[in-house]
Amino acid sequence: MSSIATEEKIPNNVDLSSDKRLQRALEEWQPKFREWWMTMGPEGFQADDVFLRTAISVDSDGWAHYDYVKMPDYRWGIFLADQVPNRTIGFGDSFGKPVWQQVPGEFRNVLRRLIVTQGDTEPASVEQQRLLGQTCPSLYDLRNLFQVNVEEGRHLWAMVYLLQSYFGRDGREEAEGLLERRSGTPDKPRILGAFNEPCEHWLSFFMFTYFTDRDGKFQLLALAESGFDPLSRTTRFMLTEEAHHMFVGEAGIGRIIEKSVELMKQEPNGDVRKLMGIDLPTMQKYINFWFTVSLDLFGGEISSNAANFFASGLKGRAKEEKWPDHIALDAVKTIAVPKDGKLVNEDVPLRNAMNEVLREEYADDSQRGIDKWNRTIANAGVDFRFKLPSTRFHRATGIYAGLHFTPDGQMIAEDEWNRRKNEWLPSAEDSAYVKSLMTRPIFERGKMAHWIAAPKAGIKGNPVDFEYVKHHA
Ligand SMILES: [Fe+2]
Ligand SMILES: [Fe+2]
Repeated sequence: MSSIATEEKIPNNVDLSSDKRLQRALEEWQPKFREWWMTMGPEGFQADDVFLRTAISVDSDGWAHYDYVKMPDYRWGIFLADQVPNRTIGFGDSFGKPVWQQVPGEFRNVLRRLIVTQGDTEPASVEQQRLLGQTCPSLYDLRNLFQVNVEEGRHLWAMVYLLQSYFGRDGREEAEGLLERRSGTPDKPRILGAFNEPCEHWLSFFMFTYFTDRDGKFQLLALAESGFDPLSRTTRFMLTEEAHHMFVGEAGIGRIIEKSVELMKQEPNGDVRKLMGIDLPTMQKYINFWFTVSLDLFGGEISSNAANFFASGLKGRAKEEKWPDHIALDAVKTIAVPKDGKLVNEDVPLRNAMNEVLREEYADDSQRGIDKWNRTIANAGVDFRFKLPSTRFHRATGIYAGLHFTPDGQMIAEDEWNRRKNEWLPSAEDSAYVKSLMTRPIFERGKMAHWIAAPKAGIKGNPVDFEYVKHHA
């Protein structure tokens, strides 16, 4: 087990003090990160005491510490999972060779791009969520929002550590760039589409943490397989934190559903909006939106980049060891390719279809929450079921981009799409309605906004009405 330095300026288990050059570079970046956090982090809560978990080691029994902390004083640290002795590359052309502890020269640019692209999503989501505290449905939810935010900040640190320690001057420049881009701005947008979408209310926040953080899970699983060992070790530990983010989304949506089905019973026509709740069809539209913008994050269905990442041992499949063939040179994957207004099945060389392989696993994993939410609806005796849309629906990257499909995956013409898209995706009115429910924050201990049920349990053994955030107005 690696030794942990928690008292240093930058908490770490990478023996930072033995590398003075790197330590200096990171200590120079630290105040810039703080400045970014103060301007782009949660607005209006930086002086509050928040009951947060802080990573202090990578030990599976006791990796985190829980206490009140003011967010600007959060101890963002650098933690890598322990090195696996004699680890070898698990896939691609270098299968079976020892993993790299340094960046192989020929893969330097590609690897830097992979790390920057992952790193860019972390501060982006904090920016997208920076105003949500002002309309929080409870102190419990407010704390969960901030927990997600500070950990995305730590994930940025994780990627910046790799850039600063392994990529020299280019890495330092990229580390600056990660603090300079801004989610949703036209001149300096974040790199990936979903991370520039506005996240304007808590329904979107829960959908984002369920669907978009889950993209993060699968990207991290694929990078955890990397032959570049420091990247593998970093991402393995990030996955530990990521699990909570997806829980926040899954449980949050579940609690809205619980409340909505309860309200449906109180209203003779089941019209939840009359009782200021969130109706299930509107939730379905937000599922359609956030699921599909997250699908785009996996990249094109047929991709020479994906083939190169796999061939070179940089990015594998999630849990690569479960696949029978780690070379993937002879296999194909059948993909429905649009040709002359029709879908035609084509056999694509498997390496070129690796994005699609990961996307399918993501879709299967996303289905689990849908099933769980549907059980809640069924148990309430309500005749409505959520459904994930087709992976062709509402796509902006890959072979389906620029074409139009129904949520069932049927190709349709543009005029039908324009006529019907508000049946399937949140309209301006839907968004205005949801926002109208969330106009003020709830700061009373244990109280919940009227559109969401209370959670079953509090955090770390504390009751639901615990003062998770001591808000100083
Ligand atoms: Fe993250
Ligand atoms: Fe996350």
